[in-house]
Amino acid sequence: MEISKEQIKEIEKFAKSKLHSVHLQHTLESRDVAKKLARLEKADWAIVEVAVLLHDIAKGKKLHAEVGAEMARKFLTTKQYDQRFIEEVVYCILVHEDLDDDQKNLVRTKEAIVVYDSEKIQKISAFGIIKYICGHNDNFKDNYEQTTLKMYQSLKRKYDRIISKQGKEMASDGFKFIKEYFKELK
Ligand SMILES: [Fe+2]
Ligand SMILES: [Fe+2]
Repeated sequence: MEISKEQIKEIEKFAKSKLHSVHLQHTLESRDVAKKLARLEKADWAIVEVAVLLHDIAKGKKLHAEVGAEMARKFLTTKQYDQRFIEEVVYCILVHEDLDDDQKNLVRTKEAIVVYDSEKIQKISAFGIIKYICGHNDNFKDNYEQTTLKMYQSLKRKYDRIISKQGKEMASDGFKFIKEYFKELK
């Protein structure tokens, strides 16, 4: 399905209305990652782009993937997108959260894999460290040492959980940086 620039602008506007600045940055940078990965994985860019823009719109709510998928379905239905297209997008959003190895087969379509991997690759970076600190401010105040270790483990887990080979390769420099960064911490 062809999506116009105006439609993308409208979706961006909707996403921006739902996200605070850090999450918006995550979303927009995840789209840049997804653009490269979608090309490498030969995934449908229209589905990937819309899904990646909307994947975290319910961030902050309990079960944000499920709630966000429903919000996206409603929004896209109101805007009269094709029903099959909507379901593909909704599916990508539904399965974007971190999964353990034995659950990875839940992510079935190429497009969902690209969205899933891209939003992790984006966090395996200097940005990912800031995002983690923003989300765990109180934990750092309670226990610096333990939370620092947890931050490393969380970022490593994201790297481990990337599904596609190409995605793993794209994240490798970021993961090297993360390891170096933590070596510097006392
Ligand atoms: Fe998310
Ligand atoms: Fe995300």
